[in-house]
Amino acid sequence: MKSRCSFRFFTAFLVLLALFVSSVAWADIKLPAPRMDNKVTLFDALKRRSSAPGGDFPTAPLSDEDLSDVLWATVGLNRGQKGWTVPMSEGLPPYVDLYAALENGVFLYDWKDNILREVSKNDIRAKIGAQRFVASAPCILILVGNAEALSHFKDEAVRKEFAHVAVGAMTQDTYLAAAALGLGTRYIHSMKLDEIESALRLPKEDFTVCLMMLGK
Ligand SMILES: Cc1cc2nc3c(=O)[nH]c(=O)nc-3n(C[C@H](O)[C@H](O)[C@H](O)COP(=O)(O)O)c2cc1C
Repeated sequence: MKSRCSFRFFTAFLVLLALFVSSVAWADIKLPAPRMDNKVTLFDALKRRSSAPGGDFPTAPLSDEDLSDVLWATVGLNRGQKGWTVPMSEGLPPYVDLYAALENGVFLYDWKDNILREVSKNDIRAKIGAQRFVASAPCILILVGNAEALSHFKDEAVRKEFAHVAVGAMTQDTYLAAAALGLGTRYIHSMKLDEIESALRLPKEDFTVCLMMLGK
């Protein structure tokens, strides 16, 4: 009798433990493969490229397919395992990290496996822009210089310069992909850096360069 009781207690303990672990475990999102059959030509996308107005920003969320396409365009692999949609000095892997702040949390884009890796379960969209309208975006990309990856370059000024060059190329790709997919986007420099750094638990030397609002 005593051993049956302790067995039940042990089973209940295991169930509770499993529930607790699953509630705190990271919930990564496996993205669908980016679609490569968009019919909008590069020159059409260039003609359409523009910033959606902040005060009247499109508020419908992106589908996972749209999100996958935009992230891939921004910094995805386009030639096997060592070529990306944006040029990086010396052909190094991207030294600017791309995060996506969504309603259900914040995620780091893992370009290798096309997965969004959860870094926070919190909706931080209303906290990170200095302008109030930034909160209205269904998705906000956050571009962050990765200090460890950039330490490859000895000179501090060169690290900053190369990160900003990469961000310029990445955000232009975001603009063009958004134009081709019929999405709205807007480059945002006015940010609350402290909020971003604590929400993303960034290493001290990493530095946030900009946000890109995205909506449909
Ligand atoms: C470096 C840079 C910083 C920007 N920062 C902001 C910003 O903080 N807030 C904002 O509403 N728009 C910002 N923008 C968007 C510009 O205002 C927008 O690109 C400009 O009005 C030109 O519009 P267009 O992109 O449609 O050509 C920024 C754009 C760039 C390139």
